[in-house]
Amino acid sequence: MLSYQHAFHAGNLADLHKHALQAWMLDYLTAKPKPLSYLETHAGRGLYDLSGAEAAKTGEAAAGITRALSENWLAADHPLRRALSDIRARHGGTAYPGSPLIAAHFLRPDDSAHLAELHPAEHQALSQVAGFAHLHRQDGFDMAQALCPPTPRRGMLLIDPSYEIKADYQTIPGQIAKLARKWNVGVIALWFPILTDDRQAAMVTALTHAHPEALLSQVRFPPARPGHGMVGSGMLIINPPYGLTNEARRIEALYDRL
Ligand SMILES: C[S@@+](CC[C@H](N)C(=O)[O-])C[C@H]1O[C@@H](n2cnc3c(N)ncnc32)[C@H](O)[C@@H]1O
Repeated sequence: MLSYQHAFHAGNLADLHKHALQAWMLDYLTAKPKPLSYLETHAGRGLYDLSGAEAAKTGEAAAGITRALSENWLAADHPLRRALSDIRARHGGTAYPGSPLIAAHFLRPDDSAHLAELHPAEHQALSQVAGFAHLHRQDGFDMAQALCPPTPRRGMLLIDPSYEIKADYQTIPGQIAKLARKWNVGVIALWFPILTDDRQAAMVTALTHAHPEALLSQVRFPPARPGHGMVGSGMLIINPPYGLTNEARRIEALYDRL
């Protein structure tokens, strides 16, 4: 039974890290006039309202994207700012895009998109806003293993699990090894939390040993509430696009002030 709901966390400091890198990669990949494939294993509902009860309850968006915008952490022409402006023009000033709608901002009619979301209510909400993509109500890794290598071969896969199943930390390196073998030119991006008990550490070590050329970007921030277990955000990116390392270091520097 899935209980995680991203609405409580949308626009937090982890989303900012993940979405800034996701938007930058999609902006880079879509600069070439060649179609691409975009795959997501754990899509969420696609669109969030930061004036809703969920965001108010945790205050995570206020400490994340809302603060980042008011303090101009990202330049006005940063790909994430551009995607956010587009979404807010369409859906209102307190809207926040999940990763599928960030992707939708950049994808072109000839690009192919596949999104997996297993939770019935999240999947239903996603279907209202993700007409650009093929939606799959199935396990995201099963979808990715079935589709890889996708057509077209250029493109990226975002893996953003909720880590509700503790075994995820053990199984993810094997899943990613298989995907990287099948789709050796794909940009494969995994998000993971940095936790006070370092539960993610063995997974990250296994991944960096197996994929020594991958880009590892990690940021740390204060917990959302006293005692909250998440104190940072990580992204591991296999086949990082040219220039992404510099962008990652720029984003990481933003967190040094926290
Ligand atoms: C962290 S949220 C996704 C957030 C989204 N990627 C974003 O950045 O806007 C993780 C999502 O994965 C879904 N989920 C959990 N287990 C799944 C599975 N095995 N396959 C597909 N989706 C799953 C959850 O319902 C949840 O909506």
